[in-house]
Amino acid sequence: LHARLSISRDDVVAPVSPRLFGSFVEHMGRAVYTGIYEPGHPTADADGFRQDVLDLVRELNPSLIRYPGGNFVSGFRWEDSVGPREERPTRLDVAWHSVETNEVGLHEFAGWAEKANVEVMQAVNLGTRGIADAAALLEYSNHSTGTALSDQRRANGQTEPFGIQVWCLGNEMDGPWQIGHKTAEEYGRLAAETARVMKWVDPTIELVVAGSSNAEMPTFGSWERTVLEHTIELVDHISLHAYYEEKPGDLGSFLASGVGLDRFIGDVAAVIDEVAVSQGVDRFIGISVDEWNVWYQTRFNEVDKAPLFSGEWNTHPRLIEDEYNVSDAVVVGSLLISLLRNSDRVSMANLAQLVNVIAPIRSEPNGPAWRQTTFFPFARTAAAARGEVLAATIHSDSYESAQYGTVDLVDAAVTATDDEIVLFLVNRSATDPLTLEVDLAGAPAGSVLSAESLFAPEGGDRFSTNAVDHQDTVHPVPLTEVTLSDDGELATVVLPALSWSIVRLT
Ligand code: AHR
Repeated sequence: LHARLSISRDDVVAPVSPRLFGSFVEHMGRAVYTGIYEPGHPTADADGFRQDVLDLVRELNPSLIRYPGGNFVSGFRWEDSVGPREERPTRLDVAWHSVETNEVGLHEFAGWAEKANVEVMQAVNLGTRGIADAAALLEYSNHSTGTALSDQRRANGQTEPFGIQVWCLGNEMDGPWQIGHKTAEEYGRLAAETARVMKWVDPTIELVVAGSSNAEMPTFGSWERTVLEHTIELVDHISLHAYYEEKPGDLGSFLASGVGLDRFIGDVAAVIDEVAVSQGVDRFIGISVDEWNVWYQTRFNEVDKAPLFSGEWNTHPRLIEDEYNVSDAVVVGSLLISLLRNSDRVSMANLAQLVNVIAPIRSEPNGPAWRQTTFFPFARTAAAARGEVLAATIHSDSYESAQYGTVDLVDAAVTATDDEIVLFLVNRSATDPLTLEVDLAGAPAGSVLSAESLFAPEGGDRFSTNAVDHQDTVHPVPLTEVTLSDDGELATVVLPALSWSIVRLT
């Protein structure tokens, strides 16, 4: 198999934004409790945060973390989660049919975020609540002093404002599963009036209005149009949520998930442009891909959901702890490539989620924490993507996929700084290696700095995973077949079958 990739330093898509590499912590399942927080754990610090998990989060290197939901936020009463712990109420979380103890709340999460060196992206409840509550939470968080709410924050131990910059106006309000689900018209009006008041409270914040929950929603497109007609002059970003899974017998479409994400982003961008033109508005509205991942949602909906909602009320139960394999990691790598490729329109993105719940990091109560297969493409991409994203022209052997038609076997994105070019590469062939020629005429290189690849491990296959009893089965290995021509204008890389790779040239 063969493909050719051409790049030119003059053809820049956009600067690389660190915000492309965000993640998500929801009060759901074991993301918080026995995920990031477990006071009795041998590695817990004085605040109850697991150091083993924190070390992996630092290695994963996310930039901003969306919090506290997700579906959870649509029933969340933020004031339950502040003040003395012993006085905080325990509540039913109807979204995930669980019991929320509020041991971890706004202050604790901000403290954890500081330790993890991440920015908090805060969602407000537009399900059961509205304008007054969103404004109150913002005032509590960001106003310096001299008002009841800001002084309450200070009395609760946080003298300086939290200074939260990015705020989500609710979550997936188009979905009938959402607490307080709304029509586009109802949500658009509420989002607009909430946005207006929030920006009066703190004009420095950025607001994310909720777009569609997925591209298959019957309202997709018209939802974005109506919501933006109400809010385009008031918000800064519109969200897009996208989850992918391998359906039985259709690996080809699954491996082409990045094509699906490209099209989804393109469609949302087209609606933004249409509303901007029709309203004569000249502002950049970014696309916040604030939930994306591989998630075996069919299994959840068909198998796990019914017992969850008909059973008892459990405190931090195991929820959607998907175990990721090699194919899943390759798709995550490809979705990151899509985000980079579209970074002229995508302003932020959050891998959903961070720990235990469809997560790159897993932890067991009173046990170890480890990296899932999907950890590696995220960590490596977040660490290496710097400078600018360059346009990459691909001429590749292709295949037919059931969902997306003809798809290139190679997927690629390229970033560059003055002294480094980084290639992010996927070979979608499940069976064969592929020889990729990279035409560097526009950006000749002197040497290969490093090259790594993730593919089926020796003795394993594409279904291999990492798990509690084999934590390091799947991990990147050096990619040996990388050569550079004498004049530095042509790199040749042999990509293993079904692989994600990263090649750094200088
Ligand atoms: O990430 C899990 C759930 O997926 C989130 O709570 C919700 O927003 C989405 O449907």
